[in-house]
Amino acid sequence: MAKLKAAITGIQGYVPDYILTNKELETMVDTNNEWIVSRTGVKERRLLKGEGRGSSELGSEAIKGLLEKTNTSAGEIDLIICATATPDMPFPSTACIIADKIGAKNCFAFDLMAACSGFLYSVDTAAKYIEAGMYKKIIVVGADKMSSIVDYTDRATCIIFGDGAGAVLLEPTEDGLGVQDAILRCDGAGREFLHMKGGGSQNPSTHKTVDNKDHYIFQDGQPVFKAAVKNMADVSEEIMKRNNLSADDVAWLVPHQANKRIIDATARRMGVGDEKVMLNIQKYGNTTNGTIPLCLWEWENRLNKGDNIILAAFGGGFTWGSIYLKWAYDSKK
Ligand SMILES: CC(C)(COP(=O)(O)OP(=O)(O)OC[C@H]1O[C@@H](n2cnc3c(N)ncnc32)[C@H](O)[C@@H]1OP(=O)(O)O)[C@@H](O)C(=O)NCCC(=O)NCCS
Repeated sequence: MAKLKAAITGIQGYVPDYILTNKELETMVDTNNEWIVSRTGVKERRLLKGEGRGSSELGSEAIKGLLEKTNTSAGEIDLIICATATPDMPFPSTACIIADKIGAKNCFAFDLMAACSGFLYSVDTAAKYIEAGMYKKIIVVGADKMSSIVDYTDRATCIIFGDGAGAVLLEPTEDGLGVQDAILRCDGAGREFLHMKGGGSQNPSTHKTVDNKDHYIFQDGQPVFKAAVKNMADVSEEIMKRNNLSADDVAWLVPHQANKRIIDATARRMGVGDEKVMLNIQKYGNTTNGTIPLCLWEWENRLNKGDNIILAAFGGGFTWGSIYLKWAYDSKK
């Protein structure tokens, strides 16, 4: 019997309507459009405005579209993995809330936290369940309302992040397509440079943590930048080598959208030209777990069955990784 692999059989993204432009940011902090575009590549980002709205709303909207376009009913879903760094609340999991919102009654669901690498970790986890023959329909959704943890008086972080979500359906296949390989890594020592201090068990929420702005993202940009450039490029190169892929063999690089300069460095190391790099950072900024599925969603109509695709990410933890997959359907049809 042919070996089971996990194939992405559908993809759908969702971004909220509100557009926060660099021009508007100029009125909020001491920055300017030219600096933001040249140092990061971001021109605008989307925000989910309004009280009581969380990442589950972004994730649910993406999944509703995914179910419709793949003719799948919510009751058929075996498992929902939600990759998020901004859960609706510490518990229950955002994945459980999403399962309720979309009416998925026959599944189990959990969140996976690996900051910006969460979507990759989740796809690999889902793939292993499918390869083991345990489940037939798994949804991985990356959903983040980054605006809920961004300090809009901190010009070093508020220019980068945005809100958004993307969801994929993974199903078993015996045709050799789908997820081929994954390299996932972490280095917890990197937490010094990128973290959120408050609200967890170490520093529970108090008036003091609020006064200290401990419930916002803290980022020391340069060490994060250096580690991202090195590690994202290293794993992307490694996954090509161990699968005997030349740059010509790679149809697309789908990089996490944290900073255009990090993406360029990764593509250069892989020897992959700009025309093969999915890039939407200019429109959405860094949506954390949303970036990679949002790219795949936007490029879906240009993907062909059998395309060799490399996904690559780096994020808080530090966490990073790459996944090699063969696209499983002809989207042009
Ligand atoms: C955050 C980041 C864009 C900052 O860019 P940078 O080139 O490293 O900029 P620096 O922090 O060295 O700051 C350079 C100068 O620009 C200034 N600056 C910082 N933010 C600015 C802004 N929004 N507008 C204008 N000037 C700004 C700094 O104050 C500094 O000024 P100084 O030289 O007078 O001290 C960049 O470090 C980065 O992308 N880091 C990695 C982010 C990432 O990948 N995160 C992980 C995934 S989630």
